[in-house]
Amino acid sequence: MDLYEYQGRALFARHGVPVLDGGVATTPQEAVELAERLGDRVVVKAQVKVGGRGKAGGVKLADNVDEAKTHATNILGMDIKGHTVEKVMLTVTADIDTEYYFSYLLDRANRTFLCIASTAGGMEIEEVAHTAPEKVVKLPIDAGVGVTPEIAGEIADKGGFPADLRDQLVDVFVKLWDAFVAEDATLVEVNPLVRTPEGKVLALDAKVTLDENASFRQAENADAFADASAVDPLEQQAKEAGLNYVKLDGEVGIIGNGAGLVMSTLDVVAYAGEKHGGVKPANFLDIGGGASAAVMANSLEVVLSDPQVKSVFVNVFGGITACDEVANGIIGALQTLHERGEDVNKPLVARIDGNNAEVGRKILADANHPLITVVETMDAAADKVAELANKEA
Ligand SMILES: Nc1ncnc2c1ncn2[C@@H]1O[C@H](COP(=O)(O)OP(=O)(O)OP(=O)(O)O)[C@@H](O)[C@H]1O
Ligand SMILES: [Mg+2]
Repeated sequence: MDLYEYQGRALFARHGVPVLDGGVATTPQEAVELAERLGDRVVVKAQVKVGGRGKAGGVKLADNVDEAKTHATNILGMDIKGHTVEKVMLTVTADIDTEYYFSYLLDRANRTFLCIASTAGGMEIEEVAHTAPEKVVKLPIDAGVGVTPEIAGEIADKGGFPADLRDQLVDVFVKLWDAFVAEDATLVEVNPLVRTPEGKVLALDAKVTLDENASFRQAENADAFADASAVDPLEQQAKEAGLNYVKLDGEVGIIGNGAGLVMSTLDVVAYAGEKHGGVKPANFLDIGGGASAAVMANSLEVVLSDPQVKSVFVNVFGGITACDEVANGIIGALQTLHERGEDVNKPLVARIDGNNAEVGRKILADANHPLITVVETMDAAADKVAELANKEA
């Protein structure tokens, strides 16, 4: 779960990382009230979960309350890379001598945590890594040891940070690590971490990602940071029904059992789609173990609610749930949706195999449902469902 900057900043403050006084506003009037409280010079920053806000015009300095109001008016409602700005954060300004980059993150590829630090901050770290790799240090962090003051000092030295800031930096690096661990984060990034002309270290930006797998022990954060506007409504509906659903961009709805089978279904459909107008999978949906009529109905409801979906592929391998139950599940699901008043009119291709496949296929054939086509093999079924999607598009 990605946090907004103002939430990340609050989390930093909770752990004693030095941040500037500020607050959030959703209207120009609220921004005016905040600016009056904060004093003359403030910075107005778009709150969106995407990088490069500054370049997009979403970060502006104001010399007085009127300017703060103008900036807030302009930034609120602005579109930054497809994200609409609904909130702005205002903070007091800092005079900046130097901008640094600092982060801790989960390094999945190397199965460790990683610290990335650079004295060339403010800009995109990817760019610095490209143009001046010697200015970027990367140090793995041993989870069992964490970041002790000694290790923090080592980061400061290896990163080439000024010696007169060492004590402050050690303190900030340790506190950021404490925040990273205590809040179950997978990313804590400060860009820029700055040095003021008076030699004070401040975090002027906060990018934090929390590990959703730890939500069970971070109930407060999970509640406080839940972001309804960032969640796809269909993904939410699927989650509530206990389904594993991810919305994708294509036209062919996919329902299968088991993550591996569903992933390979995405592949064969994308491949088959190349011959049929370039249609692609519209979603990933793993119904898991059971394929009862109720589960199938919920799944079909989610998939069919996506207006981009033109045809649906149900690809089930019967194991513990035998194929006759699956077949009855599919027919029952269409019946259930009909009774719920849903308008079901998109063609459905079913490929069922495994335990009791023959019986299952016969049940579907005998039902003679106008929307259902039964195809025996996965490749042939993918071809059929792609053809149907292309025809309907
Ligand atoms: N409180 C502040 N006082 C003075 N200058 C600031 C302040 N906050 C930010 N700035 C300046 O604005 C620049 C951009 O701010 P920030 O890093 O928050 O946004 P960004 O990097 O454009 O956005 P993102 O982090 O989404 O890529 C900073 O590098 C800094 O120079
Ligand atoms: Mg930044």
